[in-house]
Amino acid sequence: MSEPAGKVYLVGAGPGDPELLTLKALRVLQDCDVVVHDRLIAPELLDLVPEGVERIFAGKRRDHHHLPQGDINRVLVEQARAGRRVVRLKGGDPFVFGRGGEELEALVEAGIPFEVVPGVSAANGVGAYAGIPLTHRDHAQSVLFVTGHTKNGEPDLNWTAICQPRQTIVIYMGLKPIRALCERLIRHGLPAHLPAAAIENGTLPEQRVASGTLASLPDLLAEMAPDGPVLVIVGSVVSLRQELSWFERQEPRLLPTGLEARGRRDH
Ligand SMILES: C[S@@+](CC[C@H](N)C(=O)[O-])C[C@H]1O[C@@H](n2cnc3c(N)ncnc32)[C@H](O)[C@@H]1O
Repeated sequence: MSEPAGKVYLVGAGPGDPELLTLKALRVLQDCDVVVHDRLIAPELLDLVPEGVERIFAGKRRDHHHLPQGDINRVLVEQARAGRRVVRLKGGDPFVFGRGGEELEALVEAGIPFEVVPGVSAANGVGAYAGIPLTHRDHAQSVLFVTGHTKNGEPDLNWTAICQPRQTIVIYMGLKPIRALCERLIRHGLPAHLPAAAIENGTLPEQRVASGTLASLPDLLAEMAPDGPVLVIVGSVVSLRQELSWFERQEPRLLPTGLEARGRRDH
């Protein structure tokens, strides 16, 4: 007898605001047998999963991983081999600093069918809610997504490519190495007075923004002492926030029942 055909859906959950989930993601969440989820997803999204669907927490914290990547890959393969429809729910977009590619490689090796459902990445969602357009004809013609994550504490990036005029730099996982990052950017030619912002808990009611320059941002962040995920945006587009910030100015929003947003902690 042939094995039952399971399948894995690699799904982006968006950056925080549960309403940023796509309709396709909602459909697969409501029609699956098991959800394997990260910590950085809106907890309300799990309330959208029908009762009886198994939930497996795969974790991932800043400095240690709850389940090692190899174990996560194994869980996905085992669940699908048991004939189940598996949703692998990841924060933001699974293909942007999300290890989505690594998980799919393991599925390919095991011969498991899959689909990818993209999500709103932090750069898009958090930029939007902070009132910072990533490109603008008067400010930036290109935008670069980089990771501040380092193995030995030293950022190792292509500084020449990063330090270009009229370019926005979006730094994921840049909180810990922020001082070294800002120093390197200045040393490789970006002006110390270039606008730079750090957004904590972007798209959530707890969103906080530290806005300054490359020179001042590390101290501003130290003062802010963030507890949630932080995205750093560098470039003259950051100055547009003065005029374009909207999220902090609006009345608290009433979300559909069950979708009330809750804050998260990134450590
Ligand atoms: C491991 S990366 C995952 C990125 C995710 N795949 C995406 O597309 O957004 C986690 C980093 O994304 C950024 N991030 C994710 N959600 C965020 C949020 N709501 N506010 C600020 N930064 C966020 C932070 O830099 C955090 O350290």
